[in-house]
Amino acid sequence: MGVPLFSFRLRDNAVLRALETSHAEEFAAHLDRAGDSIRPWVGRTFVTYDVEGARATLRRYAEGRAVDRARLYGIWVDDTLVGGVLFAAFDAVHGNCELGCWTEPAGAGHGLVTQACGALVDWAFHTRGLHRAEWQCRADNERSIAVARRLGMTLEGTLRESWPYEGVRYDKQVWSVLATEWRDHPAPEAGG
Ligand SMILES: CC(C)(COP(=O)(O)OP(=O)(O)OC[C@H]1O[C@@H](n2cnc3c(N)ncnc32)[C@H](O)[C@@H]1OP(=O)(O)O)[C@@H](O)C(=O)NCCC(=O)NCCS
Repeated sequence: MGVPLFSFRLRDNAVLRALETSHAEEFAAHLDRAGDSIRPWVGRTFVTYDVEGARATLRRYAEGRAVDRARLYGIWVDDTLVGGVLFAAFDAVHGNCELGCWTEPAGAGHGLVTQACGALVDWAFHTRGLHRAEWQCRADNERSIAVARRLGMTLEGTLRESWPYEGVRYDKQVWSVLATEWRDHPAPEAGG
């Protein structure tokens, strides 16, 4: 890999940077590794099965970014794409955004996702002046709930049986943090 443009350094060996259509093959290979572990927990169309599917997802987010409504970032560890974080929704007019995240097994358990989400919330609140960052997850997704807690989010409620997956309807939780609360929240720990 050459020198990446516009990287945000998470650790000595880990960076966060925009996931773009030029990453389609790398993203498809990553989804092959991640698929089974993330499919039950992420949006229905996120896990695709070939390069064209991966490219379509990247194009969708590129279009969202162009109109300031969504953004997608990858986490690279030692030059391998291992996961990412995103603005599933971004509404600068009303000051609201919704975050998302995922990782393949190799990227899990290092604090990278919480740290990357923290960078997105910092940018949304401090650079873009948004007021509210939301988190939606299946109510039985303990790893995701742990990230929301580490970000200092508050559980606002449960949308009953609103997450259909393979013939079962699961409850969905909604968490959030406000800009007024975030100022008091220490940055997620780096290093490790
Ligand atoms: C949700 C998900 C992204 C969380 O990944 P994760 O690696 O657990 O999250 P973090 O990056 O915050 O890592 C936290 C873990 O790293 C550990 N860690 C190790 N070094 C660390 C460091 N330097 N700093 C902080 N934490 C560190 C923490 O102790 C914690 O482990 P623990 O929960 O076993 O105590 C992952 O489980 C996943 O991809 N799930 C499937 C997809 C999904 O659910 N997406 C969310 C949809 S709403």
